[in-house]
Amino acid sequence: MTTKSNTHVIVIGNEKGGSGKTTVAMHLVVALLRAGRSVGVLDIDVRQKSLARYLENRAQWGVAQGLTADDLPMPKFLPLQNSEHDSVQRRQSDDDDRLRRTLAAFSDCEFLVIDTPGADTHLSRTAHCFADTIVTPLNDSFVDFDLLARVDPATGEIKGPSLYAETVWRARQMRARSGVMGGIDWVVTRNRLQATNAKNKAAMAKKLGDLAGRVQFRQARGFGERVIYRELFSYGMTLLDLGCKGSPRKLSSMSHIAARQELRSFIASLKLPPLEGIEEELSKEAVADKRHAA
Ligand SMILES: Nc1ncnc2c1ncn2[C@@H]1O[C@H](COP(=O)(O)OP(=O)(O)O)[C@@H](O)[C@H]1O
Ligand SMILES: [Mg+2]
Repeated sequence: MTTKSNTHVIVIGNEKGGSGKTTVAMHLVVALLRAGRSVGVLDIDVRQKSLARYLENRAQWGVAQGLTADDLPMPKFLPLQNSEHDSVQRRQSDDDDRLRRTLAAFSDCEFLVIDTPGADTHLSRTAHCFADTIVTPLNDSFVDFDLLARVDPATGEIKGPSLYAETVWRARQMRARSGVMGGIDWVVTRNRLQATNAKNKAAMAKKLGDLAGRVQFRQARGFGERVIYRELFSYGMTLLDLGCKGSPRKLSSMSHIAARQELRSFIASLKLPPLEGIEEELSKEAVADKRHAA
């Protein structure tokens, strides 16, 4: 936690698998790259390595299509291996050392995006302590909400923070103790929002609103349920690559354009430094999309 460079560290976390961490991480990385920022990527989901696989797919697709680095921006990616030492204590201190060394190697990047596993691991906890921003995608379900807070089933009242909110709280404590300036900005974003099921959507909105003040997070605009997210993984592509050179799909429907707008609103609500350049780039793209749609 004492390793503090000018790199803005964004940890994508939620101790729940399948909430959209890797999808959000990859879209955030490409949005920052396309805004001309230098971006590092660390995948500490050392078991599934989905973000690393996503980037491999991107590199392979780029080679197959003969794309240049300008056509297909890539982040700086460094691998991280888990320690396999027999002693738990030694494993944890090895992991911490490796993480610190790897973080230092990203000091030339303006942003570092860290994708984490859907489980409470030592490495993930440590990574959370280095975050300037934590982004938590959350499926629109009370099963997922349960990792943030316990709710009284009879009254619907929030009884207190639960597992993942405690992880963030510990990371904030650790960061404050280590003397790093500024707190951790925690942003929760709902994912896979359905056009139907308005009742559940409204109930979740209310509960998240109640909880936000208590455990100190902000809410960003969420993402709709869209098939396109699943289709793009094997090409290593994102919504922001649609319509660009080498894109496997055309920017063909209003749904794609709406999805890109959701993504831009999400990025704007992160309030990342220095925002000006990023916002300018995002609004230029939005104008181009509107022209495309007309
Ligand atoms: N907004 C969405 N609409 C449709 N599918 C989605 C959306 N977000 C994520 N997915 C899909 O859900 C699955 C889990 O997402 P992923 O990003 O891998 O979650 P995590 O990293 O939290 O385990 C993937 O198949 C992904 O393509
Ligand atoms: Mg993942």
